[in-house]
Amino acid sequence: MSNMVFSAFVCLFFVCCICCSRAMPTSLNQEAVNDRPVIGILTQLVSDDVMKPFGRTYIPSSYVKYTESGGARVMPIKLTLTTAEYENIFKKINGLLFIGGAVDLETSDYARVAKIFYRLALMANDRGDFFPIWGTCMGMQLLTVLVAGENLLANTTAENIALPLNLTTEAHSSRMFAGFPDELMKALTHEALTGNFHHYGLTVETFLENEKLHNFFSLLSTNIAKNGAHFVSTIEGKRYPFYGVQWHPEVNRFQWDRRLNFPHSSHAVQLSSLLAQFFVDEGRRSLHHFDNPEEEDSSLIYNYTPVYAGNFTGYEQLYFF
Ligand SMILES: *[C@@H]1O[C@H](CO)[C@@H](O)[C@H](O)[C@H]1NC(C)=O
Ligand SMILES: *[C@@H]1O[C@H](CO)[C@@H](O)[C@H](O)[C@H]1NC(C)=O
Ligand SMILES: *[C@@H]1O[C@H](CO)[C@@H](O)[C@H](O)[C@H]1NC(C)=O
Repeated sequence: MSNMVFSAFVCLFFVCCICCSRAMPTSLNQEAVNDRPVIGILTQLVSDDVMKPFGRTYIPSSYVKYTESGGARVMPIKLTLTTAEYENIFKKINGLLFIGGAVDLETSDYARVAKIFYRLALMANDRGDFFPIWGTCMGMQLLTVLVAGENLLANTTAENIALPLNLTTEAHSSRMFAGFPDELMKALTHEALTGNFHHYGLTVETFLENEKLHNFFSLLSTNIAKNGAHFVSTIEGKRYPFYGVQWHPEVNRFQWDRRLNFPHSSHAVQLSSLLAQFFVDEGRRSLHHFDNPEEEDSSLIYNYTPVYAGNFTGYEQLYFF
């Protein structure tokens, strides 16, 4: 069982899966804007033998570049800190990105730390302290586990395949796609702009049957897996600024392995750019901040140097911690 559960979250190890608000911002946050947002990225546990010599946790550079491209800076968050230390970090960052990977979503250190931040984010948003979370691939799966309080994932294999999105009616009134030009909305449903690298996911049936999930999230798109299962591919929180995509917006601009079906067309690049900007704009509404410039400077990803990994993984560059 634990083996199955483990593999359930594999989002293709070498690509590894590179998101509530109150519907309305509080009047305070509506006026105040933070133009120096910092997005936290939880480091991911290394599960791949070829990566082990470099460190215990990592972040693919593609997620960092993606976040930076939206106008934010990145703070890597290690998995070895105490709850008090995470509570302290939460007061300083303006949003959180759960990246892809291959770890147990209930028992791993990654899941433990994610749960701490998820609870802090729920409480913060409840008291009008806007704080967005984005989950990509396994990060989206993780959000569904956190919201449902149980692991409801099933085989929805779509591995190394780019797909158009089957948008729901709700997608057209969503926050995530609100700024998209009509031409891109059309391309999204006709062109293969979304890269999929996963074995497991949430079926549409499970989503619709589970009250916790469908009360919490709006379903924005679905897709069909290799086994015919319809799976949830894009969700956004109804009340909370929490967003999830089963696919990988960051690969469209920042990953180039020739063996992998990364969408690189002009529309694919535009999709990736607009989503990065959307999420960072959500982060601008958070007024969390560091205590002083020295603390901020020493917390950022700029203190680390990525390693060239194009000759032993599907990534070009990785940060190790
Ligand atoms: C698109 O989603 C609808 C339900 O929203 C479903 O009935 C239809 O079969 C789906 N089509 C594809 C091609 O996924
Ligand atoms: C998932 O379904 C696909 C397609 O039917 C199949 O090839 C694969 O072996 C299944 N994976 C697991 C872990 O059951
Ligand atoms: C990958 O390339 C780096 C630098 O070019 C080199 O040091 C390293 O040994 C290579 N790794 C493999 C597995 O080929």
